[in-house]
Order: sequence, then C-alpha cells, then structure tokens
Amino acid sequence: MATGGEVIQEGGWALFGDVVTDSRKVEQRSVFIALKGEKFDGHAFQREAIRRGAGCLIIHKGPVVSNSRGATVIQVRDTLKALGDLAHYRRKRVAPKVLAITGSNGKTTTKEMVAAILERASLLGESLRRNILKTEGNYNNLVGLPLTLLRLRGKERVAVLELGTSRPGEIRRLTEIADPDIGLITCVAPAHLTGLGSLAGVAREKGELFRRMDPRGTAVVNLDDPWVRRLGAKFRGNKITYGRNGTVTGDSCRVLGARGIEFTLRVGREQGRIRLRFLGKHNLSNALGAAAMAYGLGANLEAVRRGLEAVRPLPMRMAVERWRGIGIINDAYNANPASMEAALKTLADIEGGREKIAVLGDMLELDRETQKSHLRLGKQAARYRIGRLYLLGEHATQVKEGALLGGMAEERVVVGSDHRELGGMLREQARRGDWLLFKGSRGMNMEKVLAAFQEIGE
Ligand SMILES: Nc1ncnc2c1ncn2[C@@H]1O[C@H](COP(=O)(O)OP(=O)(O)O)[C@@H](O)[C@H]1O
Ligand SMILES: [Mg+2]
Repeated sequence: MATGGEVIQEGGWALFGDVVTDSRKVEQRSVFIALKGEKFDGHAFQREAIRRGAGCLIIHKGPVVSNSRGATVIQVRDTLKALGDLAHYRRKRVAPKVLAITGSNGKTTTKEMVAAILERASLLGESLRRNILKTEGNYNNLVGLPLTLLRLRGKERVAVLELGTSRPGEIRRLTEIADPDIGLITCVAPAHLTGLGSLAGVAREKGELFRRMDPRGTAVVNLDDPWVRRLGAKFRGNKITYGRNGTVTGDSCRVLGARGIEFTLRVGREQGRIRLRFLGKHNLSNALGAAAMAYGLGANLEAVRRGLEAVRPLPMRMAVERWRGIGIINDAYNANPASMEAALKTLADIEGGREKIAVLGDMLELDRETQKSHLRLGKQAARYRIGRLYLLGEHATQVKEGALLGGMAEERVVVGSDHRELGGMLREQARRGDWLLFKGSRGMNMEKVLAAFQEIGE
C-alpha cells in the first residue's frame, strides 16, 4: 500500500472508491482517512464511516471500532502524511503535467488564468480541453492539495495546483507531494507573519518550491519581484522569466476604468494586444505569470490571448458590480499590506466617478508588523487621494491615525463598531457615481458590510 502502513484488519474489498477525510462524504467502498484537526479528530468518526460503507479506514491509533462490514483497516504513524503519500502515488500513476503556483498574493487568480489558457491550448497535438484538473476553492494546504490530486481519474493531462502556506515546512511537503513539472512564485510580500516571522522568512518558505523541485522541471520567475528573482537565480534547471526584461513581458498597459486593463503581451518574438477583464495593474503581473507558465507547456500566443480574454475574476476578488448607480469593487476575500496597496491604487486609478470610498477592515496575522502596517495603510489612502475611509476592526484607529497624518480631514474618516453599523453609515453617505472598495482579511468578513450597505439579509 502506498501509505507504508500496517494492515491490521483485512477487508472484503479489492477495489476502493474515493479517498475522503470527511466522514459525511463516505460512500460505498470509500477510503476514509482519520485526520486530527484543530477542532475535530477524525478518529471519532470511524463508526460513521463504517456505517456509510467505507471500504478502507486509515487510522493512526486504536481502538479499532468493531467492524463487521468488511472494511480494511490500515494503521499508520501519521495520517496526514499518509494522505499526502496516497496523493503523490496517484499523481505519479496518472502522470499529468503538474503546474504548481505559490506566492503571497495572486495564486488563485494566476491559477484560474493558467487553466483558462490551457483549456484553449493543446499538448503534443492533442487538445487539453476538459483534460485539466485544477485546485478548487481554497484546497491549497496539506489537506486540500492531496485531496485535489486524489481527484485525478486518469485521463487528465495537466493539473494546475495552488500551494498555500502559513507555517514553515508546508511548501516543502506540498512540493514533495505534487512533484511539479513547472513551478511559479507570484510574489513575496508580508503575509502570515505570525507563522513565518519576517519577509525573509516568507521568502525562504516560498522558495522551497524552487528548491525542492526536480531540476528537470521549469521554474517560472517573476523578474519584477526582487525576492523571487533571487530565489529563481538559485534554481539549476530550465527557467522562463516574466516581467521587465523577461521572456514574457507586458508593455503599454492602459487602465480601462472598471472594465479592466489592456496591454501588449510579448512572448519571445510574438506579440499581441490583450484585454483583461481584471482591475488593477497587479493583475498584469498575474497574467504574465500565467502566460509564461502556459508557454512553458507549449501554448501559443493565440491560446494565451483567448484564455486571458475569457477569464473573469472570482467572487470577492476585485469583482466589480454596479448597484443603484454606485460602482462597487468587492475585494473582501482577503488582505495584506501588498494587496491593500494594490487595491487602493486600483480604486484611485479609476477615472471619472464622484467620490472614491475605501471600506477597509483589519489586516490579520501581521504579528510585530501590525501597528506599522495599519498606520502605513492610512497614509497610503491619503496619498492615493481616497475621498473617504470607512474602517472596521481593532486596528481601525491606527489606519485613521495614518490617514490624518497623511493629511485627510478627520470628518472623512469613519470608524464603525460593527458590520451593520458601518454599512448603515455608508448608505447615508454614498451617492450615484461613487466608487466603493470593500477589503479586509478573511476573518474580517467585509462582505457583511457590503450586505448591510445593500440591506441584504438579516
Ligand atoms: N500580484 C499581486 N500583487 C498584489 N496583490 C495582488 C496580486 N494578485 C492579487 N492580489 C490581491 O490579492 C487578492 C487575492 O487574490 P488571489 O488571487 O485570491 O490570491 P491568493 O490565492 O494568493 O490569496 C486579490 O483580490 C487582490 O487584491
Ligand atoms: Mg488563494
């Protein structure tokens, strides 16, 4: 067995079904792996798994529950490791080209862009359409990535995976499991500092992708990020660069207001004008990374163009909507200092409109950088000439302080005490023609302010 565990009970099945870690998802012949999480221990659900017809249980410790239905029981030292090992085994068996994307910001966006391009490309003369597996939702950690790989059925030619981390060592293990043919680090920025320490710590952790990749693979290197450039320089294998002076470049970028951006993509000697339905110049970088990655697999410029023009932002990631004549940028999915600045700049770059209003929640997990980062955020808002700030969270007062230091008038900065109140105050203020940006860390749920503003729900 791929887990290297000990069979402590022979079962009656020769063929197993899907591998699951959630006992509620167990079906006939499923393989149930009991993981110990922060809130639950899967071992408590063995009985349920058996009742639902599990064909195999992978557990870490006893006692083994009575099992008359003929499930195989395998005992391993570490069930999380077993899950990764099983996924690696499947990855090797099916053997798609594996594309791995990590970085502080833009992973999901880049992944969606790569997948959209490859849907329109072919590999060795064969169309890749519907032969691509990609990470769904936030399945990018030590549980989600293996479960993603275990969805491989056999006909997939490419797997586009997102690798996330919040603690040192995770990228190393994820790289080991995924064994990527092509790897990309979008950028290195302060995020998850609670687990990763410092910016250098973030770089070291993301860098594990290039460090652990097979040197026969290809590293896709963002030359515009000094940290990534340095990490890329150490990779011994094949490289594709993007950004300024790279193999893949984007020139003459024009901001088309709320409709997105337009730029000239150059890949080697080919070039073409591309219209991207994503706001903000930071998405140019994501598009170039995606193009470089797809190019590494052999996609041509036409596929890159068609893919990039077809792909749309995911919910809560710079998603634009119009509501009663008010422009809304919903970027409430997450936030850290780099993505906050990118979003403020995007709001500032929108031409026309009456007033620009940023509705911001705290940036979490910044550890010692917390105070400074929020103060700086306020200053940036003033510098980008954001008209009004609506703030929520424990660090709202620091953002406000920064904004006032930057020269914003006090009556233009509102600090709310909860989502509903802030949404209500915003409704009093906002007028047709205004542009509103909603953003904060995931734990801040800034979409609730938007819902209160639009009087949706509760
Ligand atoms: N290259 C980038 N640089 C800075 N901020 C970015 C970049 N790409 C995306 N963002 C910001 O990060 C948010 C999350 O994007 P996403 O693609 O979901 O990243 P991830 O999967 O890495 O969390 C976006 O809404 C956007 O505000
Ligand atoms: Mg993501």
